[in-house]
Amino acid sequence: MSEYIVTEQSLGLSGEVPLVGAKNSVLALTASLILTQGKSIITNVPSSLDVLQMVALLRDIGADVMFDKERHHLEVDTRGIASFEPRPEIMKKMRGSILLLGPLLSRFGKARVALPGGCLIGARPIDYHLRGLRKMGVVIEEDGRFLNASIHPGISQDHTRIVLEYPSVGATENIIMFAVVGKGETTIVNAAFEPEVFDLITMLRKMGAKIYCEPVSIIRIEGVSALSTVVHEVIPDRLEAGALLLATAITGGQIKLPDAQPDCMEMFLEKLRDMGHTIRIGEHGKGIELIAHPSPRCVDIKTYPYPGFPTDLQAPMMAAQATATGISIIEETIFENRMLHVKELQKMGAQISLEGSKAIVRGVDGLYGTEVVATDIRASCALVLAGLAAEGETTITGVHHWRRGYDFLERKLAKLGAKISLVTHTTLTEPLPQKIERGSEPQATI
Ligand code: EPZ
Repeated sequence: MSEYIVTEQSLGLSGEVPLVGAKNSVLALTASLILTQGKSIITNVPSSLDVLQMVALLRDIGADVMFDKERHHLEVDTRGIASFEPRPEIMKKMRGSILLLGPLLSRFGKARVALPGGCLIGARPIDYHLRGLRKMGVVIEEDGRFLNASIHPGISQDHTRIVLEYPSVGATENIIMFAVVGKGETTIVNAAFEPEVFDLITMLRKMGAKIYCEPVSIIRIEGVSALSTVVHEVIPDRLEAGALLLATAITGGQIKLPDAQPDCMEMFLEKLRDMGHTIRIGEHGKGIELIAHPSPRCVDIKTYPYPGFPTDLQAPMMAAQATATGISIIEETIFENRMLHVKELQKMGAQISLEGSKAIVRGVDGLYGTEVVATDIRASCALVLAGLAAEGETTITGVHHWRRGYDFLERKLAKLGAKISLVTHTTLTEPLPQKIERGSEPQATI
């Protein structure tokens, strides 16, 4: 069976759609439930493949999980968790599974986890995670495929100060999840403060954790004896919001996102304003409306850790620069290989020259549809956006990347007027591609 996304030129997207919870929040939130004994509820959970993988990992170690995909409602009872070694074949499907390390170590005093693979955007080492945990008294042996970790019995953990070489999101989250339960105090210097990290801190505090955010970029954790279960709503996904706003910008439309949190996207919104688009913020600082400029200007982009321009919006933003007026210099500073979407955009007529991780984009009057390949989650978004602006039909393969990062985003885009469908071509029985019309897929709890 092969799947691909088909788009046709769809100018003037318009309307209003809700946002689901942030995929990059949910992975840490669900992993941290391993620290509890009982049933927790997390709402506004996207049914993207990465989240389904995390559900599979929790079930694999013994948790009882009910996920109502239609209601975005997740219930996790952790009383049955009995294993500290999740099956490697499940772990290796997703980078985010390394976030189980800290909670499993805290719950069992040991953990055996598969080394997460790298991915196309970079090698994605975990040395900051391991260095931090080792500094907290964890003994970790690596055998090339697995990490065998255990808390060294003789090491007291009264106060550990960890200075991160780089404000790594995953390393910050893993260290927090290991430090919240237990004796002693842990300080993380140069911590990541992405909204998704703060969502984890918010939920852990609701569970009884003592976590303090101090100037500058310092997170201090005082270990507590136990955490309670929790009911928590995931923050809206700023990356889904960014994708929808850019889809509107690139097609010359006007949309409203009532759930969006503008204060989590300020640099991104500044760049949209610099392009000439009108951005209106809703009452009480909630909600975003975008009215696209008819001939937007190119702007320069350089990705940085939060609150700088988010690396996860670099590829979709490049698609918007491709048809703007002028020249845009886009520099990726977070991942070493996150420009794979360039050659696919070039196939559609984009004028882009690449020097390492710096792309020089010369805006063209229009793109044209063709067959392109998505290489990672955010590249798939860039190609969908380009496909909505391009003349003619665009076919995008590598749909599993799209499904890994987004919760049926093609349906929201279609609701806003986009001509987009997800086609499943099954061989042998079905001679012709079977178009899945939006909303027709069976919804089920899993
Ligand atoms: C998280 O990845 C996100 N994933 C990424 O989103 C996001 O791009 C990234 O943060 C940056 O914002 C999840 O939250 C599941 P990092 P993470 O540790 O934690 C290097 C998406 O598309 N590094 O902040 O892996 C690393 O190689 C994904 O949704 C080390 O060298 O990011 C990268 O160059 C992609 N050693 C940089 O730091 C380490 O131990 C930032 O990584 C850890 C990271």
